[in-house]
Amino acid sequence: MESTRTKIIHLLSSNEKTYVSGQELSDRLHISRSAIWKHMKELEKDGYLIEAIRNKGYRIVKSPNKLSENTVQWGLHTDWLGKNVVHKESTPSTQQIAHQLARDHASHGTVVIADEQTAGKGRLNREWHSAKNKGIWTSLILRPAILPYLAPQITLLTATVLADVFKKELNLDPKIKWPNDIMINDRKVAGILTEMQAEQDQIQYIIIGIGINVNQEMNELPEDIQQKATSLRATSEKEYDITSLIQRIFVHFEKVYAEYETYGFPIIKERWESYGYRLGERTTIKTMKETSEAVLVGIAEDGALLAQYDNDSIKKVYSGEIDW
Ligand code: BTN
Repeated sequence: MESTRTKIIHLLSSNEKTYVSGQELSDRLHISRSAIWKHMKELEKDGYLIEAIRNKGYRIVKSPNKLSENTVQWGLHTDWLGKNVVHKESTPSTQQIAHQLARDHASHGTVVIADEQTAGKGRLNREWHSAKNKGIWTSLILRPAILPYLAPQITLLTATVLADVFKKELNLDPKIKWPNDIMINDRKVAGILTEMQAEQDQIQYIIIGIGINVNQEMNELPEDIQQKATSLRATSEKEYDITSLIQRIFVHFEKVYAEYETYGFPIIKERWESYGYRLGERTTIKTMKETSEAVLVGIAEDGALLAQYDNDSIKKVYSGEIDW
């Protein structure tokens, strides 16, 4: 159930430039005008800047500079992604919370966001450092109507969304390293962890975990990954507004997801390959079974990496890492 305050924020957010009268709020929320006024005072205590003009009504001028369900939703122009936000100041992992919510029937597009994770999870059971207020640590609950073996397509789609936002909105030069690391200047800036609950022919839900190093200085990244990792700030010497970056990612995600639903995977594949890290180059591929050398030629419909070996045979690689 949405709280009255969240409803007020929603109503004011859909009318950012205009004022919403106390009477309209009171009619729509079925509470008195003086109750509305009290809620406004509470919102101000939370750091919202609210303009109240006699005979016109209320307008949110600025939201507080911290993450919360409300600040993520204020000014978020999406139809389904982030309509339901769960925010935690600190949590072991947003993935855990998302799984629980999904089991409890959370809707498609529900998101979990944390300021800090104390046991953030990466791929291959690795640790994911998630320092307080330094990055985007979020898990998206999706219920796509696709066969389970195609689920990796959603991960690849997510990687293209991040790359697009970094490139088109932040003017950076990202690459996607198979399967789903976002690289800038040969260093990893973001990673995606996909987990799924499915039956043989039906996905119950997918959790897309996104971790982005945003505002860390280089020396704030853990020592053991400093040679291989970076943050948006370290790479561009700019500090970023985390809430606004989350919103841009959600808006773009919805757009790309709609394209995927309409046109299918080819459009995602093409975009992914346009960002492909070391595509067309000879590299080392490490899998559980072996380490081999091959030229990376692209990705397959099921998310596998296509690697061309010396005898010209093209093989699909399903799990492992590209080394360099
Ligand atoms: C990787 O590159 O290894 C994937 C990293 C994924 C990290 C994100 S942060 C939000 C979500 N919660 C987690 O515990 N992990 C993912």
